[in-house]
Amino acid sequence: MSAPESRLVRACKALPVDRTPIWLMRQAGRYMPEYRTIRKNYSLIEICKNPQLAAEVTITAAEILGVDAAIIFADLLLPLEVMGLPFHFSAGEGPVIESPVRDKADIAKLRTDSAADLGYVAEAVRLVAGHFGTRLPVIGFCGAPFTLASYMIEGGASRYYLNTKKLMYSQPKAFDELLHKLVCVTAQFAEEQVLAGADVIQVFDSWVGCLSVGDYREHVLPRTTELIARLKRTGAPVIYFGTDTATLLLSMKETAADVIGLDWRIPLDEGWSLVGNRGAVQGNLDPVALFADRAQIEARAREILRRANSRPGHIFNLGHGILPETPVENVRALVRYVQEYSQKATAKPQA
Ligand code: CP3
Repeated sequence: MSAPESRLVRACKALPVDRTPIWLMRQAGRYMPEYRTIRKNYSLIEICKNPQLAAEVTITAAEILGVDAAIIFADLLLPLEVMGLPFHFSAGEGPVIESPVRDKADIAKLRTDSAADLGYVAEAVRLVAGHFGTRLPVIGFCGAPFTLASYMIEGGASRYYLNTKKLMYSQPKAFDELLHKLVCVTAQFAEEQVLAGADVIQVFDSWVGCLSVGDYREHVLPRTTELIARLKRTGAPVIYFGTDTATLLLSMKETAADVIGLDWRIPLDEGWSLVGNRGAVQGNLDPVALFADRAQIEARAREILRRANSRPGHIFNLGHGILPETPVENVRALVRYVQEYSQKATAKPQA
């Protein structure tokens, strides 16, 4: 860890802070001209595998926006490659896994002994942590077992998660073995990031909201809890994020993650009370709100801060990642507004 006293780390532990920390999922990405310039010469995967470039992209985005944390530039799917499942990004289609996992034999072939080959991500974390020192915390991340399994099984993005659920229902033991293998690799991957200086780890379970509470509890919660327990042993707080999770929040809290990410569909205070008011929450502005005019953006940010009511343990973020066409000026204005408004509110807590 490199900035253990930072606002972000304190907020993750639900400790008091001078103002609400803010960072944004996908804060480095296509909406930013500086990123598009680098992408003219390198593919997404080339940037991820080049620690100098990945660090530069991470640092540039955090500095342009003036946010309270830098999230390491990488991709959720990188561990698939070291497990023996190559993938590429095709324009307009998103990620494509060349031979998706469909049965027990495919799962048996997946490797769990090569997580060290992802060392380029830890190396990028080391460069970013060295650059910022105690000035700004670094967020490392990994995919949650369900969301990564869904990419492995579907072969890419999916609407109904048909193949994933089919495997889960018809071969629960094989499905569990897949999640187990994913936990082995992603835990080691994230631990390396903490050793390299990451202050916080975010676990992305972006697509878990497609599950019923019963299926989540039976097939997904145990392995996710195992992953989060391992990550917590590093000493870095863990943020557990998903979308469409209003019905799952109570169960997600059972993983013992320090912070639960909320998407924009649930009012922040309702989500917070569902996970028990003692822990911390992150969120939850609709990413599409950043396409509205300044007054609307500010009103919506204010509404979230009002619902948080200066209670320790709120990290401001979007409910999901920044979209590619988002105006950079609006993102900068949001960051400034949240920082200034929450500073005043913290100085004078509302009744
Ligand atoms: O937040 C950050 O600034 C860090 C960078 C980051 C990326 N991917 C870079 C990226 C993070 C945290 C991710 C996580 C990720 N990757 C998730 C979970 C987050 C979420 O949004 O739910 C998922 C599901 C992926 C898999 C993935 N990678 C998808 C679905 C896509 C989109 C494909 C497309 O064409 O829109 C990507 C590509 C990707 N990863 C981009 C970036 C900046 C797109 C830009 C590019 O192609 O250069």
